[in-house]
Amino acid sequence: MRILMVCLGNICRSPLADGLLRHLVQKNGLEWVVDSAGTANYHIGSPPDERMIATAKKHGVSLSSLKARQFTSADFTQFDRIYVMDRSNYKNVLNHAKTAAERDKVHFLLDHLYPNLQKEVPDPYYGSQEGFDEVFHLVEKAVNQLLKDLSHG
Ligand code: 4NP
Repeated sequence: MRILMVCLGNICRSPLADGLLRHLVQKNGLEWVVDSAGTANYHIGSPPDERMIATAKKHGVSLSSLKARQFTSADFTQFDRIYVMDRSNYKNVLNHAKTAAERDKVHFLLDHLYPNLQKEVPDPYYGSQEGFDEVFHLVEKAVNQLLKDLSHG
C-alpha cells in the first residue's frame, strides 16, 4: 500500500498524518510507503511547523525529519490512495486528476471515522495550542482507523 497525505502547506496537518501513519506502519511491521505533500508552494523544503512537531513529540511521534513538498500530478502514479484534510485540498488535488481511476484514489482522511461525510480536519495554523491538540487527537483516531480498515481488507 502506498499512501499520500495532503493538506495546504504540508507543515501542519499532513505531516502529522504522515508521521503518525509511518509510526504505526513500523510498529506493525508493514511495508507500506507513506508520504505527504501540500497543494501550495509556500513552504517547500521547510520542516513541519514547530508547534506541530512539539505536539506530536508529546505523544512520542517524531516529525522532525519531514520536509514540505508540493503535490504534483506524478503523485497519482506513485500512490494508491491520496488523503486530503479539507474540501479545498480535495478540489485542488482533483484538478490534477486526468482519469476516473485517478479521481477514485482521492479520499477525505476523516471518512475513516465518518464515512462519506467529507468532514474536514481544521487548519490549526492561525489558531492556538488547543487547536494543535485537537487536530492531533482527531488525526490520530483517523489514522488508527485507516490502518484497521486497510490492513483487514
Ligand atoms: P497545513 O496548515 O495546510 O495544515 O500545513 C497551513 C500551513 C501554512 C499555511 C496555511 C495552512 N499558510 O498559509 O502559510
